[in-house]
Formats: sequence, C-alpha cells, structure tokens
Amino acid sequence: MNVLVAGGAGYIGSHTVKRLKAAGHKPIIYDNVSRGHREVADILKVPSVIADLNDRAALARALREYQIDTVMHFAAYAYVGESVEKPLMYYDNNVATTLNVLRAMQEANVSRFVFSSTCAVYGDPDKIPITEEEKKAPVSPYGRSKLVVEWVLQDLAQSWKDFKFAALRYFNASGCAMDGTLGEDHDPETHLIPVILQAILGTRPGITVFGTDYPTPDGTNVRDYIHVDDLADAHILAMERLQPGKPIFCNLGTGRGFSVKEIVQTAEAVTGKKAPVTYGPRRAGDAIALYADPSRARTLLGWEAKLKDPKVIIQSAWNWFEDHPHGYSGQK
Ligand SMILES: NC(=O)c1ccc[n+]([C@@H]2O[C@H](COP(=O)([O-])OP(=O)(O)OC[C@H]3O[C@@H](n4cnc5c(N)ncnc54)[C@H](O)[C@@H]3O)[C@@H](O)[C@H]2O)c1
Repeated sequence: MNVLVAGGAGYIGSHTVKRLKAAGHKPIIYDNVSRGHREVADILKVPSVIADLNDRAALARALREYQIDTVMHFAAYAYVGESVEKPLMYYDNNVATTLNVLRAMQEANVSRFVFSSTCAVYGDPDKIPITEEEKKAPVSPYGRSKLVVEWVLQDLAQSWKDFKFAALRYFNASGCAMDGTLGEDHDPETHLIPVILQAILGTRPGITVFGTDYPTPDGTNVRDYIHVDDLADAHILAMERLQPGKPIFCNLGTGRGFSVKEIVQTAEAVTGKKAPVTYGPRRAGDAIALYADPSRARTLLGWEAKLKDPKVIIQSAWNWFEDHPHGYSGQK
C-alpha cells in the first residue's frame, strides 16, 4: 500500500516508515520537521514531503502524486506539561490540523486512516491493567486533544461510509531500531529511558526520580514500556485490517509494568555504568501505575509485543545513544 506517514520524521513515525518499507509497502514521509529530523528520509531512502499538514495544497498534492491509500497520522505535539501551559497550541496542532488532514483525505477519496492515540485518554484509571472499556477521563489538554480526535473519527465514520480507521492508544514508546539506524531524539527529552541514558553519557547533568512513597513494590511509579518496533508492527497490522463500519480502538502495551527504579537498575546493568539519580518528592499529576491489558490487540490485530524484556528495550536504545550522543544532527 502507498502510505502517507504524517509525522514520519519523528520518533515513532520514522520507525514505522522503516517497518512499512521492510514489509513491502511504500511509505512517504510528510512532516514539517518542527519536532522531527530531515535526516530520516535519507537514512531510510524513502520519499519525503517537508511541509505543514495545514498546507492544504501541499497535502492534496502529496495524496494525489503518491496515489496514497492510507494515512498514518503520528504528527502532533506530545508534551503534557507544555499542553497545560499552551492549550490552544495543542488543540490547534492536534485537533484542528487533524481536521485539515481528514478534509483533504475526503476530497481525495483516501478513506483509510490510522491514528496515534494515547493511554493518556484514560487519565487516572479505576482499574489496572487498563482495558479499552476503562472510562475516558484525560487529565491534560494533551490527553483531551487526542480524545477529541477519537470522537471526530467516530462521527466522521457515521457520515462517510467508506471511511475506515484505527485509533491506537500507546503506552510508553521506548527503545530504538534494533540495527542502530534510527533513534529517539526529542528536544527537550522527557521520556525516562533516554533521560537515564543521557545522564549516564553525561549529556545531561543527572536525573530526578519524582516520588519514592507510591503504593508500588519499591515506591516508584510503574509504567508499561513498549518497544517502538512492536508499535510500528501493530500499525501495519491495523492498516491491513481496516474495514468500514468497524473502527478499531486498541491499547498497545506489553501488559507488564516496571517501576522507575527497575528501569534505572536495568539501564545500569545494560550500560555497566552508574546513573546519577536524585530521589525527590512526588510530582503533581503523575498516576501511580499504568499498564495495558493488551488482549483486544491480540484478538483484533493478531498482535502481541515481542520485545517485552526491558533489558532488550534499553540495549536497543543504548546502541543508538552511545553512537549518537547528540542525536541525529549532533557530532559523534
Ligand atoms: N512517544 C510516546 O511514548 C507516545 C505515547 C503515546 C502517544 N504518542 C503519540 O504518538 C505520536 C508520535 O509521537 P513521537 O514521540 O514520535 O513524537 P515526535 O515529536 O517525535 O514526532 C511527531 C512528528 O510530527 C511532526 N509534526 C508535528 N506537527 C506537524 C504539523 N502540523 N505538520 C507536519 N508535521 C508535524 C513533527 O515535526 C515530528 O516529526 C504523537 O501523536 C504522540 O502524541 C506518543
């Protein structure tokens, strides 16, 4: 299939482009590189359109020229804290931009859509592991912006009978391409594994762990770390299973939770180095423990995470960070 990967120069998008190509599909990156990396298209040897998704003419041209069958929509802003400070920017880029994409798709009669949603749509869940039936009560503008898009997709599918979509709710994306070609390069970086590895490498001063008195086995927060290649593969399976009238809403996680302390210790074991960690008080807004019940993804997509061992996930990230301590454009 010809797949327009919106946000394909970013972290999860780029890894999905690589897996799409390996699976025999034709991915085209569409990205304004505001938070992504131009280098990705060259590394992966795929066509790219460097433009904003709000540029309707450029978007229409890309859909037409590359005879796109499916749009995978990774492009968004994704910092919870920033979304609290700049809610309009988040609703603009995560909701209004998506409306623009959907309009362009409808005009071009491109009816297949795979959307990057998030476990943040659940907010603080009542039950762990989290199933898709859990109440949707996001606690940040970021989470709400994603839930709004899920509603838009459901409404659109009511009136556009050909429209088929999947909304995939990721847990904590982590790791890097197993062959070291692609990595995680956010600025600022807020994800736990890269932050620990950067602290170990000395490219950041250290890390603070927020809270050691949570009701978890070692007192630190518990999260579900899912390898980015597993996420990518779930997108391909979802794309292949899209059907009109049968929207797919799926959690993508491993089903296992690991504490912050366990991740720090695993990173130290993988790298053979001590992480400069400070233990501080709790941070407002952090849920105690979040991990997925991934059974619906198994049933609907025939998908299950393969790279579940945090050692493997962290090793894949370490391979890339050791080789690219300053990211894609930095010097080795
Ligand atoms: N990383 C995670 O753990 C995680 C978890 C849950 C959900 N998600 C969602 O997955 C998606 C991808 O996350 P990521 O970590 O790869 O983010 P990322 O920032 O690395 O990638 C997003 C890409 O979208 C591009 N982009 C943003 N706005 C654009 C616009 N208006 N026009 C064109 N391009 C634009 C950016 O330049 C960037 O390359 C996001 O939608 C995010 O909300 C991520």
